[in-house]
Amino acid sequence: METEIPTIFSAKRTSFVRTSVIREILKLTVENSDILSFAGGLPNPHLLSKDILGSVMEATIRENIATALQYGDSSGYLPLRKQIIEELTDVPWNSPDSIIITHGSQQGLDILGKMFMDSDTNVLIEDPVYLGALQAFSPYHPQFFSVPMETDGPNLFWLEEILSQNKIHVFYANPSYQNPSTYTWSLEKRKQIASLLDEKEIILIEDEAYRYLDFEGNVYPSVSSLRKRNDLTFVLGSFSKILSPGFRLGWTVVPEVYRSLFTAIKQGNDLNSNQFSQVIVSKLLDEMDFKDHLRSIQRFYSEKKEILVSLMKNFLPEAKFSLPKGGMFLWVEYPKVSEKELMKQCLTSGVAMVPGSEFSPVKRTSSNFRMNFSFLGDVEMEEGVKRIAKVYRDINT
Ligand SMILES: Cc1ncc(COP(=O)(O)O)c(C=O)c1O
Repeated sequence: METEIPTIFSAKRTSFVRTSVIREILKLTVENSDILSFAGGLPNPHLLSKDILGSVMEATIRENIATALQYGDSSGYLPLRKQIIEELTDVPWNSPDSIIITHGSQQGLDILGKMFMDSDTNVLIEDPVYLGALQAFSPYHPQFFSVPMETDGPNLFWLEEILSQNKIHVFYANPSYQNPSTYTWSLEKRKQIASLLDEKEIILIEDEAYRYLDFEGNVYPSVSSLRKRNDLTFVLGSFSKILSPGFRLGWTVVPEVYRSLFTAIKQGNDLNSNQFSQVIVSKLLDEMDFKDHLRSIQRFYSEKKEILVSLMKNFLPEAKFSLPKGGMFLWVEYPKVSEKELMKQCLTSGVAMVPGSEFSPVKRTSSNFRMNFSFLGDVEMEEGVKRIAKVYRDINT
């Protein structure tokens, strides 16, 4: 039976909470294994060596069980924070104290929303934007401004226009292999925007969840590393795309002045991040050849991208997309169809993609869909593209 209670008693902020069609589609595809899903952002679970994982788990149980099964430091397990500094960050003012380990980078987004956003806070985001960031920030009901994205980063004309006409407090950006577009800021734009943000004194929340997924193994300098105002810049990283989302571990590089506040908010969330996962991940980094592991992930994703690109060119030449340099998505424009119709008919035909409107800062339809290529097998991918092509042609005739 439906009940009125939630709306009567819920806090005002709950009316701003955004739901996610992606999670709904994921639920559907888990419940119905016949659906071929290009929808999730699911890293391929077979990329992590089961042998190394098994021996690391055994060693943890033998040697580190007291630590692994205890509460831990709210900032995170120190050996892991040191490894992150050595291998996975580039801001020059780093020290283990600057790293706070979170439950996925998603928790970092939530904490930063809580720290910086009120109803009168002007927050700049990209268009399109990572939906999970909108979900994290929306309950605080900030005023969102959005800058249109080009394949090499934000449109600079619009960025300067927005910054000159409004006092922007926070810019949330995902500069490398953005979710959903995979657009990647050029080095030139990174430098220009870093200095603009310094000049205007704007806090940057830089989401680097896909930083290490370049198909050629390139790593761009973070925008934060190019800023002079290191007190106004946060970098979020994640183990989800480079090891496994199952560990639920990420980190935020936090400027010194905000560390105690960030940690106190995290304590209110969960006291500390999963200690067991942290010990395992730290040992994994010790045991595996991490650079070699990254290269094999990059090669694998690059090959999967090639396969999807050639399937799309063969079976759906009407679809338009730019070639990604990294990441796990194609951002595909399907001309001359209604987004809702294509989505509905695809699901009926047993294939799922995420409609572009999900990544729009404002309510509007889109002719783009996000297609993941990292999860489906090659044969399933071909069958999925054929199903989409049939649906697309049926709608268009
Ligand atoms: C751009 C971006 N940021 C953050 C996240 C959250 O990742 P996690 O919480 O698994 O680290 C995701 C997940 O897909 C993402 O695509």
